[in-house]
Amino acid sequence: MEYIRLLYSVLLLAIAGLAQTPAREPKPELPTQSPVPLLQNVFHRHTISLNGDWHTIIDSHDTGAGRRYYLNANPATSSGVVEYDFSASPTLRVPGDWNSQRPELLLYEGTVWYENSFSYHPSANTRTFFYAGAANYRAHVWVNGESLCEHEGGFTPFNCDATSLLKEGENFVVISVNDTRHSDDIPSLAPDWWNYGGLTRDVMLVEVPQTFIEDYSVQLERGSTGRIAGWVRLSGAAAAQESASQKTAARKITITIRIPELKISQEASADANGTAHFAFDAPKVQLWSPENPKLYGIEIASEADSVSDEIGFRSIEVRGLDILLNGKPVFLRGITMHEEAPNRPGRAHGDDDARVLLGWAKDLGCNFVRLAHYPYDEHMTRMADRMGLLVWSEIPVWQAIDWTNPKVLEKAKQQLTEMITRDRNRGSIILWSVTNESRATPERNAFTHELVTTARALDATRLITAATNQFKHPDQHSIVVDDPLIADLDVFGLNEYVGWYSGTAADLDNFSFTTPYNKPMIVSEFGGEAKAGTHGAASQRWTEEYQEEIYKHQLAALRKVPFLRGIAPWVLKDFRSPHRQLPGVQDGYNRKGLVSETGVRKKAFFVLQQFYRETAAQNTVGNK
Ligand code: GCU
Repeated sequence: MEYIRLLYSVLLLAIAGLAQTPAREPKPELPTQSPVPLLQNVFHRHTISLNGDWHTIIDSHDTGAGRRYYLNANPATSSGVVEYDFSASPTLRVPGDWNSQRPELLLYEGTVWYENSFSYHPSANTRTFFYAGAANYRAHVWVNGESLCEHEGGFTPFNCDATSLLKEGENFVVISVNDTRHSDDIPSLAPDWWNYGGLTRDVMLVEVPQTFIEDYSVQLERGSTGRIAGWVRLSGAAAAQESASQKTAARKITITIRIPELKISQEASADANGTAHFAFDAPKVQLWSPENPKLYGIEIASEADSVSDEIGFRSIEVRGLDILLNGKPVFLRGITMHEEAPNRPGRAHGDDDARVLLGWAKDLGCNFVRLAHYPYDEHMTRMADRMGLLVWSEIPVWQAIDWTNPKVLEKAKQQLTEMITRDRNRGSIILWSVTNESRATPERNAFTHELVTTARALDATRLITAATNQFKHPDQHSIVVDDPLIADLDVFGLNEYVGWYSGTAADLDNFSFTTPYNKPMIVSEFGGEAKAGTHGAASQRWTEEYQEEIYKHQLAALRKVPFLRGIAPWVLKDFRSPHRQLPGVQDGYNRKGLVSETGVRKKAFFVLQQFYRETAAQNTVGNK
């Protein structure tokens, strides 16, 4: 009897359980992918640009996800209450920050929803990736109402495999972009630059075969100037190999690397993970340098895929206190920049902005630019390759960061990996920087040590650096640069503002810079503020004459520093900063530029230009 009663109650429970399941289970939400490994060199692949005017919704209370804006519903045809309509909503241009496109968005920090509808025709045996050059700061991408992927970090690209979500005919992409600042972000709460939000760089679809060339590195072999080495990694290969090995064990995927101008054609076999390594002599290769920015057309092909690129071959290393470019000591005549457009407000992007900004650096007589404080648009680093400017590239581990939070370290490593992966084939880039002006605490040292280790593991061909303002200033006339971080670096950057934040320009006349480290130094920042067109005595702050005075004394003092191997004064152009509020002078701009935000060259511009002319002519290195 007992047994029957038990059976009956189990039956009852089962029926009850069934009763609760709604009739039609909503299709399980696809797990949101995190972006897949970066596709190397999307510019030379088969792409469909999604740049242009995107419909937008300003979601200041961040309720759009709850309201399912990603479904892009049409109020006219949808059942129930729909309180948005992208098709009738105002647009914002992509690429572009939202702050400079509408006056009411200048100070806006929060979420903006972007929608773009387009027709698409998937090809057979093809995978299609969604790619964004950058979205500041955190982005969530939906395709045809389905969640695709999320990305955090405002200055590096990401791509996600959208093959299964795209369909024949009409499609739409919805992206929520949020740039609210948090203490555990990178950068953190109060960077000295404008928090430009939005889809700030190119957005596109990238089509590749099922097994495709995912990433590659083609550089001079470390320490050589006549041998090229590297690797090519296929994606999707493992599957192919497996099926191949079942059928014909011996078959391996062959990769071909061709440099037609050098009559080089090399083959290499991909291993089980789809990676092929190669090394070969290239005795006739012309080395890339600022004086001769020689780029070679490269063609990489696998059975199903091929990618071409333009690559400059140069070697970069440190020997004692010297930085050697192609085996010869080089002095870095530089300028530091922010990625702001040259002749209009807002973030710079694309070839034209890059050409103008780097053109100004060239006019100064530079052979080097420090791209502060975050990775710039790929158009910029490729333009540096073409125009012949050596590059310092940096991740925005700027001043105060939540050093003890392991999640924050992961974010920094992710940004470092994305920066190095995207630009590993750019000959112009010689320095990866892991931090700027962070206080020398044990937590910071441990954090940056991890970053340096990560950078070296990702790229053994370039130099690792950082910009420090951690020094002793025992008196008005001396600086001792002893930040423990330097022990980890190949080259160190010093940010010092003698004549502006401390002391006077004249203090520099008998000034000593020393360091316990036997390493080359770049003065990665010095300078002072001046409002273009404001003139007065050289002792009068905010005038062009005061800024000019700082430059004259700084340059005279620095050329005497025995371990100095480069300078990159702060900064090429006045830039927007929420920290700079002196009315009638700063008005929201950091005025340390040598050029004003409207392109006016200040007196100090010509002081630096003259110094670089002399330095280049004498090819002097420090005071050697
Ligand atoms: C710092 C910092 C910059 C800042 C500059 C300044 O050194 O690295 O990001 O803008 O000083 O104070 O102008």
